[in-house]
Amino acid sequence: MKFLDDVYCDVLIIGSGAAGLSLAIRLAPYYRVIVLSKSQLKEGSTLYAQGGIAAVFDETDSIESHIADTLIAGAGLCDANVVNFVTTNAKHCVQWLIDQGVIFDKNFQTHGKINYHLTREGGHSHRRILHHADATGHAIETTLVHEACNQSNISIFEYTRAIDLILSDKIEISGKRRVLGAWFANYHDEQVKICRARAVVLATGGAATVYQYTTNPDVISGDGIAIAWRAGCRVANLEFNQFHPTCLYHPYAKNFLLTEALRGEGAWLLRPDGTRFMPDFDYRAELAPRDIVARSINYEMKRLRTTCMYLDISRQSEDFIYSHFPNIYKKLIQFDIDITKKPIPIVPAAHYTCGGVVVDLQGRTDIDGLYAIGEVSYTGLHGANRMASNSLLECLVYGWSAAEHIIHNLPKMTMSETLPSWNKILSNKLDNVVIQRKRHELKACMWDYMGIVRTNQDLDYLKSYIKELQYEIDDYYANFGYSNQLLELRNLVQVSLLMVRCALERKESRGLHYTLDFLILLDKAVPTILIP
Ligand code: FAD
Ligand code: SIN
Repeated sequence: MKFLDDVYCDVLIIGSGAAGLSLAIRLAPYYRVIVLSKSQLKEGSTLYAQGGIAAVFDETDSIESHIADTLIAGAGLCDANVVNFVTTNAKHCVQWLIDQGVIFDKNFQTHGKINYHLTREGGHSHRRILHHADATGHAIETTLVHEACNQSNISIFEYTRAIDLILSDKIEISGKRRVLGAWFANYHDEQVKICRARAVVLATGGAATVYQYTTNPDVISGDGIAIAWRAGCRVANLEFNQFHPTCLYHPYAKNFLLTEALRGEGAWLLRPDGTRFMPDFDYRAELAPRDIVARSINYEMKRLRTTCMYLDISRQSEDFIYSHFPNIYKKLIQFDIDITKKPIPIVPAAHYTCGGVVVDLQGRTDIDGLYAIGEVSYTGLHGANRMASNSLLECLVYGWSAAEHIIHNLPKMTMSETLPSWNKILSNKLDNVVIQRKRHELKACMWDYMGIVRTNQDLDYLKSYIKELQYEIDDYYANFGYSNQLLELRNLVQVSLLMVRCALERKESRGLHYTLDFLILLDKAVPTILIP
């Protein structure tokens, strides 16, 4: 079946979450934009976001306080300049979202002044989270999808995977190394096509699916980080894998998050015997930053040799629970768990990739014309541990700042050179059980050897295992060619290896990176930067 021919646009955006679509919508009045989306357009982490988006909307709150909380949660490793940039630009970017049609919960309206209901999450010293009940991501993503689909300047290719970038050195044109486009393929087509573009933006999300247990959807597989690394970009801080403390523990539930807003609204974490434990670990109890809560749960689970802990919101009234957490209530009742009456079994699960492709305040990478925005990027905002609800915010702020940069700096290019074809074989007939098994093995090993608590011995073992796997993939490819499954596994393996390398470089325990070999915190906080 033949789907698309080689295509041309001004800006190619790879990924259709909050980062990719907000950028596409901002660029549409000026440029022809192509958005590639690996699955259905709306699929990605954004769709599943629950808690909300952080921004100072309350008069008793302040940007200084948002900055201070972010810096504390980031355990000394945030870039203060970036934290300042993001928090200062938060309000107008959230307002832009509201102008696109996203509806956030309100308390009441006085004298024409809208008063948003702001919830609380770990690390925030104020109520600061705008939300749409417990399904904020759904409200944001569906609104952005609707807006993007209505723009004639935006072409959308669903079920289409970007494979690698085409760079100027591949065709030996003179001048600084820059991106000229990307190779891509539709799932139903084995022909790899070229998208030629004046700028390319990676907005492919994070890489938490390198882990066996994760809150992320399957479509997220670290592709952008692997693609950028192969192209020659620096990556940073990939040892900081955030584990969300509360994912539903149930044999029939896959990847279901229980928002931190539950704790923000009074839920307690309990041991199997019903006793509360977080006050024993941190004075902020259930609202301590995420790394601390996940580690405490992990510690208690190991100490008590139990398979899960419990989250209890039943202290709140039924009406409160129905109105603030309607989707969680409905989902859990399907599993016979009535959250108005009994505690919910929970475990931590891999949730967010704090590191990524190194970018500046406009989302520019090391390669001319190549940008990275959203979870794929390392901006310096999150440091060693992202504060809750700062991620959607980062997507929007960099969607805005990258748009501003592109609008004023998109180069005029001749587009006359012939770009090289992808010189490998793509055949989906090769998707098979061997590749699936390798994928499961990798994820299980990442979970077992690079989890919440780490050791050098485990990381060394993991590194050798992943290198062996990388060799096997190359060998498999040399004999049989690439398939969609293999392309994805290749990226997962590449990103896992980068994560382990970052972890081995850090000789201290800081934020999300906790190692029994270095229980100290070094005086100087330095990001881990890998250079290809
Ligand atoms: P995503 O929304 O993940 O989108 C990635 C896109 O890239 C997808 O369209 C995918 O198809 C596409 N893609 C990937 N690889 C390729 C490829 N090779 N070719 C083509 N397309 C590709 N953060 C908050 O701030 N507040 C919250 O309340 C919150 N809750 C969360 C709840 C859950 C369950 C999860 C998983 C995350 C949550 N987060 C939250 C984190 C936040 O949702 C994500 O960090 C954010 O949505 C990432 O947006 P993004 O645009 O960078 O990527
Ligand atoms: C949540 O709702 O708990 C997720 C918030 C986040 O990851 O920022």
